[in-house]
Amino acid sequence: MLKVEDLSVHYGMIQAVNQVSFHVNEGEVVSLIGANGAGKSTILRTISGLIKAKSGKITYLGESIEQTSAKKIVEKGLAHVPEGRHVFKGMSVQENLDLGAFLRKDKDGVQKDLRAVFERFPILEQRKHQDASTLSGGEQQMLAMGRALMTRPKLLLLDEPSMGLAPIFIKEIFNIIQDIQKQGTTVLLIEQNANVALSISNRGYVLETGKIVLSGTGQELLSSPEVQKAYLGG
Ligand SMILES: Nc1ncnc2c1ncn2[C@@H]1O[C@H](COP(=O)(O)OP(=O)(O)OP(=O)(O)O)[C@@H](O)[C@H]1O
Ligand SMILES: [Mg+2]
Repeated sequence: MLKVEDLSVHYGMIQAVNQVSFHVNEGEVVSLIGANGAGKSTILRTISGLIKAKSGKITYLGESIEQTSAKKIVEKGLAHVPEGRHVFKGMSVQENLDLGAFLRKDKDGVQKDLRAVFERFPILEQRKHQDASTLSGGEQQMLAMGRALMTRPKLLLLDEPSMGLAPIFIKEIFNIIQDIQKQGTTVLLIEQNANVALSISNRGYVLETGKIVLSGTGQELLSSPEVQKAYLGG
């Protein structure tokens, strides 16, 4: 579904991503794990068209998308929940969710998905008329995820969805990711909680200073001594 080949991304003189190759098959949850600054968010931003690669190829559903605009990429069913809850302030919770569905023409489908989002995150329904900026950090994270789901994505890119959440909500977020997978959406996940992330992932890749150093199934990575030592405190 997604194939990244020899991707290199620079910020000025800084090389953030160095010849990275990986792929995501339809129906999978795939995790990218790695230390702070390893280049994880940069990879997601490049896939969703927010920044341009220096070199490399990105193929999504058989089409090359390195030169495609971020808006066109969303229209193709690829949604990105960026790092650190980007909700629109000065707009209500409901308006934030409506924005997710902005490009959709299937009004009935939109209503159905809105109900599903409110079922997943009941607090958002209770707060739907409130300004999004008045939500707590964790609630804003849920809203950002709800808004992405309103685009009805084929592929969902999640950048540290559990960041800043209480343990009980972290568990909930991972349950939701598994639900999303069951309902047919493919997920590319970045997480600091490598343990939980890998345990719900079909496969994963370990990134170190812009390079992929290890890959395998979720279970293989969980039991790998290198991963244990570097990321799981083992
Ligand atoms: N806008 C930018 N300008 C310059 N350098 C940047 C910019 N954004 C990121 N970088 C640098 O690129 C490298 C990769 O950053 P990136 O945000 O992709 O890391 P990450 O793996 O997502 O880290 P974290 O786990 O801390 O979120 C880092 O060294 C970072 O300092
Ligand atoms: Mg990041």
